Amino acid sequence: MTDGDFTPVATLADVPPGGLLSVRAPNGEQVVLVNAGGEIGALLDRCSHQEYALSAGEVLDDGTIECVWHGARFDSHTGAVRGLPAVEPVPAFAVRIEGDAILLGPRLPSP
Ligand code: FES
Repeated sequence: MTDGDFTPVATLADVPPGGLLSVRAPNGEQVVLVNAGGEIGALLDRCSHQEYALSAGEVLDDGTIECVWHGARFDSHTGAVRGLPAVEPVPAFAVRIEGDAILLGPRLPSP
C-alpha cells in the first residue's frame, strides 16, 4: 500500500535508537534507515567513498553514521559529509512516521 509518494518500509520497532536497517525502496534502490537520537533518517545504503554498505556501519552519538570500511561519516538526515575520506554526500530520502510505520518518500535535494 502506498500513500502518495510515501511507502511503508519498516516499523519503528525495527529501528531502535542507534539502529540501522537496510530496506529496499519501491524504485529498487537499497536504503538504510537510521535512528539517530529517536529521529529516523534514510540514506542511500552506499557510501560515497567506495560504495560500501552504510548499514554495516555505526550510528555515533553526534547523530552521524560512520562507514565501517574507512570511517567516513555522514549526517544521518541529509547525507552531508561529516568526516573524510568521503568528499561527496550520500543521497537522502524523505521519511514520514505514521503510527509505528516508517514511510519512505522521494529523494531529497543534495545538501
Ligand atoms: S567505503 Fe565508506 S569510507 Fe570508504
